[in-house]
Amino acid sequence: MESNWKPLNRPRRLRQTQALRDLNREVRLNPSDLIAPLFVTLGDNPPEPVASMPGVFRLSLADLLGECRELAGLGICGVALFPVIPLGLKTPNGSEALNPKGFILQVIRAVKDAVPELVVFTDIALDPYTTHGHDGVLNSQGTDVDNDSTVEILRQQAVLHASAGADFVAPSDMMDGRVKAIRLALDHAGFVNTGILAYSAKFASAYYGPFREAVGSAQAAGTRKLDKRTYQLDPANPRAAIVDALLDEQEGADALMVKPAGPYLDILASLRRETRLPLAAYQVSGEYAQIHAAARAGWLDLEATRNESLLAIKRAGADWILTYFAHEMALALRQH
Ligand code: PBG
Repeated sequence: MESNWKPLNRPRRLRQTQALRDLNREVRLNPSDLIAPLFVTLGDNPPEPVASMPGVFRLSLADLLGECRELAGLGICGVALFPVIPLGLKTPNGSEALNPKGFILQVIRAVKDAVPELVVFTDIALDPYTTHGHDGVLNSQGTDVDNDSTVEILRQQAVLHASAGADFVAPSDMMDGRVKAIRLALDHAGFVNTGILAYSAKFASAYYGPFREAVGSAQAAGTRKLDKRTYQLDPANPRAAIVDALLDEQEGADALMVKPAGPYLDILASLRRETRLPLAAYQVSGEYAQIHAAARAGWLDLEATRNESLLAIKRAGADWILTYFAHEMALALRQH
């Protein structure tokens, strides 16, 4: 190289000082982007830690309400509720999901009563309620989840959640046709303003392991490696993900979701171009556990990796981010 060589372009000029970097920031996280998934359990025990998810607890209803108040105070707009159902209430067909006095219905009512401004998202699927840990009921041979009889149950579950005050029901089961069936059932029951956040591009992922421990679907089944490949998407199939998501849009979903988030940023970015609906991404339990595990080993910086992982999800096109970091991320954003 000649000694008088100079670059023609100097993009580094825009990165010289913090003020310049702030001016040039293209994507910013806000507390209002975040939705906090919360685990709620019967009884009034103190918070039970989830071993594979440091900082995440199964909360009694009283503690859950306290947490919801804090989250709202930090500017978080929504919570996604996941009930931990005792083994004794689980059955092969998940009948507790349709108990009109079921625990989750009391929880929804209590949250809407205590913190009405929070948007309450509830999970529509049977896995907390089934002995086998699958999201639906099995066929008569017990070899697979039966689509249509599962959808029939899910639509009743959605109406129960709406009648308890859920703002959005979020079917996470991946059965065919469930969005339309749920929309019709909600409308028929008069819940025209209850929204549907469809887990549209939900992949059969190894990253759900810690969640299955947290809600005990793993415990009931005796393994965290539940095989959900006949209903959840193949991680190898980006086009199939768009097909499923656009069907959910046609069937009346109000918002679409990609899950997991970090390993599926390509799906998020391409779905962003295919739909004008709000797009959610779920940074799942295994993504959270991975960051914590590396931080514990001293291999990654927890806060910096957390911030970067969430920023990347927003950058790829997510409007709403479900993340177990919601509380601490909102706190950190407030302190800046
Ligand atoms: C099941 C459900 C799962 C998650 C949310 N709802 C796991 C599964 O499909 O087995 C995973 C969330 C996470 O890993 O954080 N309806």
